[in-house]
Amino acid sequence: MKSSDILRNEHIIIQRFLNILEKALFRFERDSRQPPGFFEFSSAFIRDYIEKFHHSKEEEVLFSALEKACDYREDLPIEELVHDHHLGRDYTKKALMAVEQYNRGDNQKKREILDYFRLYIQHIRYHSKREDRVLYPMSDRLFDAKMDAKILSAYKAQDKENTSMTSYFEKVIETYENMPGF
Ligand SMILES: [Fe+2]
Ligand SMILES: [Fe+2]
Repeated sequence: MKSSDILRNEHIIIQRFLNILEKALFRFERDSRQPPGFFEFSSAFIRDYIEKFHHSKEEEVLFSALEKACDYREDLPIEELVHDHHLGRDYTKKALMAVEQYNRGDNQKKREILDYFRLYIQHIRYHSKREDRVLYPMSDRLFDAKMDAKILSAYKAQDKENTSMTSYFEKVIETYENMPGF
């Protein structure tokens, strides 16, 4: 197993989340119905899984390891990828703020919820594809076996501390995926 496989697998969970978010938005747009607890779940998943779990592996471990391993830093798209993470945070912050205001009775916020979450879905899909196709293959090429093993064990240590969080999220995603009419 390569260290990048861990990140690729996390992308699969993130894509599954984005697919159910997309479906929830269609339903919300049509009849203003929110699947039970879905936006609360989305907020927790984005904060704890995408940001604190997945993006932190990239920002705190992968990006700096790549910078060390690569002779030509200008070949690395890291600045753009960090910028993507910031932009994603901005979209979700705005979407979740609109959810809060909507839940307090401001119906005008429906449009903002739909628009910002849809921007986020599109943005993260594109961002993840770019990492899968460009960045992770780069890390596979640049890290020697010793370096990759070191990174893999850093990821695994983080995963071990978060097993209950990750299995909880995977279970909830599966529940929404199988929910009739979702
Ligand atoms: Fe990323
Ligand atoms: Fe990623």
